[in-house]
Amino acid sequence: MALPRPWAADYLAMYSNWLGGIVREPWLMSVPIDDHLVHRGDGVFEAMKCVAGRIYQCDAHLERLARSAQSIHLELPLDLGALKRLVVDVTRAGGEPDSMVRLYISRGPGGFSTNPYECCAPGVYVMVSRLHSPAPESYQRGVRAGISLVPSKSGFYASVKSCNYLPNVLLKREAVVRGWDFSLGLDENGHLAEGSTENVGLVDSLNRLLLPLPDHILEGTTVRRVIELAEALVEKGVLSRVEHRPLERADLDKAKEILLFGTTLDVLPVTRLEGEPVGDGAVGPVAKALLELVRQDIRHNPAVSTPVFV
Ligand SMILES: Cc1ncc(COP(=O)(O)O)c(C=O)c1O
Repeated sequence: MALPRPWAADYLAMYSNWLGGIVREPWLMSVPIDDHLVHRGDGVFEAMKCVAGRIYQCDAHLERLARSAQSIHLELPLDLGALKRLVVDVTRAGGEPDSMVRLYISRGPGGFSTNPYECCAPGVYVMVSRLHSPAPESYQRGVRAGISLVPSKSGFYASVKSCNYLPNVLLKREAVVRGWDFSLGLDENGHLAEGSTENVGLVDSLNRLLLPLPDHILEGTTVRRVIELAEALVEKGVLSRVEHRPLERADLDKAKEILLFGTTLDVLPVTRLEGEPVGDGAVGPVAKALLELVRQDIRHNPAVSTPVFV
């Protein structure tokens, strides 16, 4: 008898180029086991969200997908315009104006070795599921984070959004077992890198928004947009400037605010680091202002989002 799968209630629609269409029945949402995506993590992906009927920063996500694919010598089987139309069609088939959209380009089926040249053609999968954002209290009270002991990805692997996410999985596992909401990775030089699926930054005593150098992290679409939106805060004097620099554990300990950035989170304040309060332990003004700017951007800036239901 088939196993019950209560979590599949969140699955709304899936496209697979092997199926040649879109399915809405979770039992049919599958990937061939001989696709090298499954047994070698050989593929790239993107996760974007549709809010109030529009996919936020769809173009930025597709451009990063193209960069990731190029980095692993995977030729995209469709141009970005066609991929975007596909993403929109599957999101619409999902039927929910607020949903999570994941696009995977795999090396494709072709046997079980590591050799990418045994694969016949890339796989294209789009998965649409219900959107689960952090609870409102997480933004009001802030979240708990700690410093990870998990070896981080080296620069090249961190910069590619490949389907090889084992270090990211171990970061998340560590957060769960150590009673934190998020685990923050350090690179091999002890510099702050990123969380499991989020970028991190801090506000220092000079009111600078400091972000890690881009060489050991995935360049987030959210933090990239935040840097643009933060100009308004520099003009108002809430921030003195935005700067990329190597950051260390000591910088986190002295920070007035620590912020997480990502597609599902937008901007999420960390108010406890390894049990100690960050700054005065309350959500700071930069976190509040940046969250407000990003949420305005998501809902009211059609220039950076793609219409699906409107
Ligand atoms: C490792 C990693 N870093 C950072 C991010 C944040 O990127 P974005 O803002 O595009 O969601 C993600 C998102 O998936 C990620 O997987």
